[in-house]
Amino acid sequence: MQSGIENAVASQAHRGLVGGQGEAGGVLKTPEELADIVSRFAASDGWMERVRLRTDGRWYERLYHGPDHDLWVISWLPGQSTGFHDHGASSGAFVVVTGSLEERRPGEQAQSIYPGRGRSFGPDYTHDVGNGSLGPAISIHAYSPPLDEMNEYEVDEGRLVPRERGQADGLDEVWRVERQEKRAGRLSVEQMLSAARARLQRLSAREAHDALGKAGTILVDIRPESQRAAEGSIPGALVVERNVLEWRLDPTSSARLAVATDHDVHVILFCSEGYASSLAAAALQDLGLWRATDMVGGFKAWRAAGLPIGDGGPRCGSDAVD
Ligand SMILES: [Fe+2]
Repeated sequence: MQSGIENAVASQAHRGLVGGQGEAGGVLKTPEELADIVSRFAASDGWMERVRLRTDGRWYERLYHGPDHDLWVISWLPGQSTGFHDHGASSGAFVVVTGSLEERRPGEQAQSIYPGRGRSFGPDYTHDVGNGSLGPAISIHAYSPPLDEMNEYEVDEGRLVPRERGQADGLDEVWRVERQEKRAGRLSVEQMLSAARARLQRLSAREAHDALGKAGTILVDIRPESQRAAEGSIPGALVVERNVLEWRLDPTSSARLAVATDHDVHVILFCSEGYASSLAAAALQDLGLWRATDMVGGFKAWRAAGLPIGDGGPRCGSDAVD
């Protein structure tokens, strides 16, 4: 298991070297990484309660919008389709979670896509996706950089010709809905948690233990002092309380710790039970710490696994460079 995670991390490191830069300097996701993200998000419960069905057109909502990618859920009633379109400069991936969809590519026969299956693609990918079945379908999509342009095409004697109106009218609708949703308060904390975890290569307590001490890896305790005193500590973990975490670990911050040498540091966060640590790890990824993750089950899982624990432990998070 550990070697699999190491391989995934090493693979990401390699791709990071050749990947592009998103806004705020985040490394863009590859189509393969986006496929992994949509699969993991589809397996979570972060989208199910958001789904709506509309008879007047596809329904869609952006459930996560980060610096390097976004996440969407789309519902399709029978007969609803996108028409031919591209995704601007974005790479993308989607997975069907229920029902079935058909994808048409220029000059190719339509291909059916069933639950658990999907597509991943780089920029300049053009397709027409629709629901040709007799029942509704739902799909999860991710794009990197986040989708901000779609161009529509029509077929003219077998060739794709851009529609004159340029950017898809459908996106205008998306932005309008999104603005309304933002005003209404659009994500529950459970959805935020699912979106965060879809981005993380989370580690079990045993895997975190085995990673401890490796070059470039730090285990970080983000619990408040009162919780550390009550529960105990993990020997070798660095204490950085949640309220100063970003300032201490951003390598560009004047208040960073000496260990915050660059954006490649493998930061493994833990809290008491592994919830706040997931949101915190996603926040670190937004800072460009692309290997940031957290420990499933937090300190309590570590203790339950019989791994070494100490008393309250030293407070190390104040050891900042200035
Ligand atoms: Fe598409």
